[in-house]
This record gives sequence, structure tokens and C-alpha cells, in this order.
Amino acid sequence: MDDAKLILDGKEYSLPTIVGSEGEVGIDISKLRGTTGAITLDSGYGNTGSCKSSITFIDGEKGILRYRGYPIEEVADKMRFVDVCYLLIYGSLPTAAESQAFRHELTHHTLLHEDMKKFFEGYPSTAHPMSILSAMISSLASFYPDPVNGESVDLNIVRLLSKVKTIAAFSYKKSIGQPMVYPNNDLSYAGDFLNMMFSVPAEKYEINKVVENALNLLLILHADHEQNCSTSTVRMVGSSQANLYASMAAGVSALWGPLHGGANQKVIKMLEMIQADGGDYDKYVKLAKDKDSDFRLMGFGHRVYKNFDPRAQILRAAADKVLTNLGVTDPLLNIAKKLEQIALEDTYFVDRKLYPNVDFYSGILYRAMGIPTDMYTVMFAIGRLPGWIAQWKEMREDPNARIYRPRQIYTGETKRSL
Ligand code: ACO
Repeated sequence: MDDAKLILDGKEYSLPTIVGSEGEVGIDISKLRGTTGAITLDSGYGNTGSCKSSITFIDGEKGILRYRGYPIEEVADKMRFVDVCYLLIYGSLPTAAESQAFRHELTHHTLLHEDMKKFFEGYPSTAHPMSILSAMISSLASFYPDPVNGESVDLNIVRLLSKVKTIAAFSYKKSIGQPMVYPNNDLSYAGDFLNMMFSVPAEKYEINKVVENALNLLLILHADHEQNCSTSTVRMVGSSQANLYASMAAGVSALWGPLHGGANQKVIKMLEMIQADGGDYDKYVKLAKDKDSDFRLMGFGHRVYKNFDPRAQILRAAADKVLTNLGVTDPLLNIAKKLEQIALEDTYFVDRKLYPNVDFYSGILYRAMGIPTDMYTVMFAIGRLPGWIAQWKEMREDPNARIYRPRQIYTGETKRSL
């Protein structure tokens, strides 16, 4: 690929180009300010590549998502979440021995330090579990500090992946006033989480295989999504060489927002509102198009996907299957499908290439699985953790990585006196 030419103030500059392994073209502007004195302005970073990465590939125009080269459809169909964690973090599929060893590690680091349990007691029962999750992940740094003297960070990676579900389940138990349930090493990753969420000491709890498999699928579909808002936040914080836990806690906070992972909770609230309002879909489609209203169809639209979100397609099919298998009839699923149908035929949505995203159908599944609405974004965070870790690790191992420090175009007052 030839260099790009830039003419600025009558002077021509040559800018090197870079082509990714899937043919994506970038203009390398790393020397732009040094040679021209100018910077670029790209609000929301829609045109800015912040790093080179070999973890996840997305082609938003074609609806393609691949983890380390493997299509999401195949990964979702054939893999277990723990192996997907390994794939994302270490770059290749684990051998049988590696898979077994990794699984063993993830199973044997699930306990929280007993002193951490006291933290949960201090929260009001109304606390949003995302605020607890972020604080508790940050607190892990006090109990399991970053390795020193050349020790491997792998142990802390394992601790984080193992303990996150314990933290999440404890925060739920706290919110409903039930005793915390300790991890059980005989169970799978998803099964152990379900047991900590839903079992009580007073009675036997059977893990429903349909629910366990659905959770496995949901975690896999959320596992990584290249340089989205929370992942960029993780990289931003990690670029200052902040520790693993601090960087992940920041990712949780970024994910919480309703324009990002928090949308899954908002989707259900929106569908409930439409149902309570007599199921008048048209009214809400009109409202979403009305520029005088700040209402948006939650779970619609994506910065990168401009055709379809492959994760939403997988989840749509899964929602039908799981609800049937569980014998659940949820009127919200029908409302969601009708809303999708209307929106997909409406020129407003078609012209803007607004399609259902991953959050549109995930809430329906969580609901059928008995996961409370406040926990939806926590579920997303558990799923996204391996992606954040992989991206953090890739950055920390890159000898050319620099602290993230964008510039700005200052538009304030020029110098004045008091
Ligand atoms: N409902 C109605 N209109 C929408 C929607 C929506 N959900 N999303 C975008 N639009 C419109 C915008 O008003 C804008 O219209 P205009 O060109 O007439 O001004 C146009 O589509 C482009 O939208 P932007 O906000 O500029 O797109 P951006 O890429 O910045 O935002 C986002 C993407 C945040 C996902 C947006 O589509 C949105 O708010 N969706 C709803 C929230 C949501 O579902 N978030 C989850 C995303 S997936 C994830 O993070 C896991």
C-alpha cells in the first residue's frame, strides 16, 4: 500500500500506511505532530486505531466476529467458556492437558479471602451489584498484590477469573438478604456460579443443564469485542502500568453505562414499559425516531456493526430454544421480535443501519434463567473479563506500548488576567 499524502497549509507530507492481516488499512500518524505540528480530531474515536492487536477481528459491514481467527458461530457452538478464556488470553486453543490444568486452576482459586466478606456487609441492600463488583475487583489488589521480582502475572489472572463469579454471586445474595454460598469445586465454571446464586443451605439445589449451557453460551458471546469503550478503558488505565485489578475495575465501571453493557438491563425495562403500555410498539418506534425525544430503542445500533451483530443472531435463536426447553413463555420475547421486525422495515433504522445488538436478546435469556435484572450487566462483565485480560496482557507485553495520552484542540479563553 502506498503512503498517504497530506497537504497542510500548502505543504505536502507523506504518511506511512499499515495493512492488517484482514486487509484493514490504517494511516500511521504517530509522527504527525512532530512533523506537521498538527493533531487529528476524532470525537468518539470512530476513525482512530489505538493499537495493533491480534486477539479479535470484527468486520462490522459483513457481520463477522472472530476470536483469534475462529468464527464466533463455531466457538459458540463447540467450546466451553473456560477454554475460550484460555484461547483469548494465551492465543491458541489449549491442548487437552492445558485445558485440564487451566480448568483445575480456575476451580481452585474461587474462594475470597474471608476478610473480604466483611466488605459486602457494609453495602446497603439496594446497592447496584456493578458498584460492588467494581469495588471488590479493585480490592483484590490489596489481598493479592501484583507479582514482583519477575513472577508471572498468570496467577493473578487465574485468581481474577475464578473470584469474579464468587464476588458477583455474593453481591446478589447480599441484596436479597440470603447467606452467601461458597464455591463448590465439583462444579463447572457456569454451574458453580449458578449454585452460588441460587442455592440456599436449607434445601438441595439441582443445576439445570439447559440454564448451565445457556450461561456458557452467553459468557462466550460476551468474551471479547476488540477496542470497545470498556476495553479501551482497561487499556487506558493499564497503559499507566496500573495493576491488573485496578485496570479491570475501570473496565467494569465503563461497561456499566447504558450506552454500553448497561443497555441489557435497559432493554428489559423498555420491553416491560411497552408491555405495561398495552404493547403499542409503533408508539415507541416513533418516539425513538423523534429528534425532540431522548428515547432510543435500547439494544439497537452499534458503532461497528452496520449490517447485523452476529451475537444477536445467535442469541435470538438461543432465546427461542432455551425458553422452549425451560417451558417458559415470556411475552417480552414476542414484543422484542415485533419491535425488531418493525424497526428493520422502517427507513429511519434502515438508513442509519441500526440493527439489534448483543444486548437486545441477552436480557430475555437472563430473565428466563432467573437472573435478576440488576445482575445483567454483571453477567456481561463476567463474560468480558477474559477479553479485558487478554487485551491488557497484550498491551503490557508490547515493547512499543506507551502511556495513553490523547491531545485536544483547546477552544477556551486565550490568556487573560485576573
Ligand atoms: N434508537 C434510535 N436512534 C438511534 C439509536 C437507537 N438505539 N442508535 C443510534 N440512533 C441514531 C442516532 O440518533 C443518530 O441519528 P442521526 O444521524 O439522525 O443523528 C444515528 O442513529 C447514529 O447514532 P450515533 O449515536 O451517532 O451512533 P454511535 O455509533 O455514536 O452510537 C450506540 C452507538 C451508542 C450503540 C447507539 O446506537 C445507542 O445509543 N444504542 C442504544 C444503546 C445500546 O443498545 N447500547 C449497547 C451497544 S452494544 C454494547 O455496547 C455491548
